Amino acid sequence: MLFLLLPLLTALFPGGDSDDPVSFHLLQTSTFNNHSWVHQGSGWFGELQTHSWNRSSGTIIFLYPWSRGNMSNKELMDLERLVQLYFMNHQDFYISQLMFKDEFPSLVAADCEQHSGKGFLGLVQVAIQGYDFISFQNETWSPSPMGGRKAQKACNLLNLNQVYTNRKHWLLSYACPRLISDLLDGGKAHLQRQVNPEAWLSSGPSPGPGHQLLVCHVSGFYPKPVWVMWMRGEQGQLGTQRGDILLNADGTWYLQATLDVAAGEAAGLACRVKHSSLGGQDLVLHWGAPQSALGLILFAVIVALVLLTGLGFCFWKRW
Ligand SMILES: *[C@@H]1O[C@H](CO)[C@@H](O)[C@H](O)[C@H]1NC(C)=O
Ligand SMILES: *[C@@H]1O[C@H](CO)[C@@H](O)[C@H](O)[C@H]1NC(C)=O
Ligand SMILES: *[C@@H]1O[C@H](CO)[C@@H](O)[C@H](O)[C@H]1NC(C)=O
Ligand SMILES: *[C@@H]1O[C@H](CO)[C@@H](O)[C@H](O)[C@H]1NC(C)=O
Repeated sequence: MLFLLLPLLTALFPGGDSDDPVSFHLLQTSTFNNHSWVHQGSGWFGELQTHSWNRSSGTIIFLYPWSRGNMSNKELMDLERLVQLYFMNHQDFYISQLMFKDEFPSLVAADCEQHSGKGFLGLVQVAIQGYDFISFQNETWSPSPMGGRKAQKACNLLNLNQVYTNRKHWLLSYACPRLISDLLDGGKAHLQRQVNPEAWLSSGPSPGPGHQLLVCHVSGFYPKPVWVMWMRGEQGQLGTQRGDILLNADGTWYLQATLDVAAGEAAGLACRVKHSSLGGQDLVLHWGAPQSALGLILFAVIVALVLLTGLGFCFWKRW
């Protein structure tokens, strides 16, 4: 069944009372090259990777202690065997039954989403060489219009296989919702954590003669929602351009906000950041001001050293 998925909709983490769906995605990439297969799998809870697949041992790797949910050892072993078997069937199906030749990468994405009030949505999509091939929803496989005769044939064969289709349906409509509820429960402390942003300013590439690009970097924050604006006094600058919010390797987020200003007009501008972790105390960085406490401390230390050596020198002279 499964291993893989397409981040269909960007599911944000449960923000408590929000309507964002909570989702779990399984992603499988399989490549067949020079007569040998490589299968890779990963599991994602919203945008957070929680699982991966150990190819050498054929076992699931839990990236967090709570990724395992409430699965017993027996359930875990059954699931791992199911995945191993699934990979073997996948190979046999595409090569022996559909007659795909060498060098084809495939991507399988299995998604289940919980919408508040609307229940569950489960979906599996298969893409081959970058094109949609077939998909599974409501207990039925359907060919993609781009899949051609092979996709039609694949669906005919898969829809005849009741055992396989039932198992897939069970995974999407029973196992996956249960995993989501276990992850929400077990991962609560991790998912509801608050991490303060750090911010710093820099100049970007010049947007043109007589212009300057001011860049405000905000990084290391969690959760994702954040507000960043270039300001002059209390006045938000409408020219502020927000970049995409990017994921840092440690699971926190990064964003930059830029402002194109005429040279000489940068003085008096500041970057203001609001984030839930700051408890209402916005972070404000003034363009041209000493940027970090570290800079101030270094400056203070140097002044102190100069004074002390000066003082020492005086004492030495008096002796
Ligand atoms: C393909 O596999 C064979 C046997 O496994 C190996 O001898 C050969 O070097 C491989 N060719 C390439 C291009 O990897
Ligand atoms: C994958 O399995 C191999 C063999 O059992 C083991 O040596 C290796 O540490 C495992 N890798 C991870 C990341 O768990
Ligand atoms: C999972 O286990 C925890 C503690 O063992 C328990 O509190 C929780 O209710 C269980 N969740 C489910 C869905 O069974
Ligand atoms: C699947 O079933 C649901 C309700 O059972 C229905 O609303 C939806 O349109 C169906 N989707 C497809 C692709 O048949």
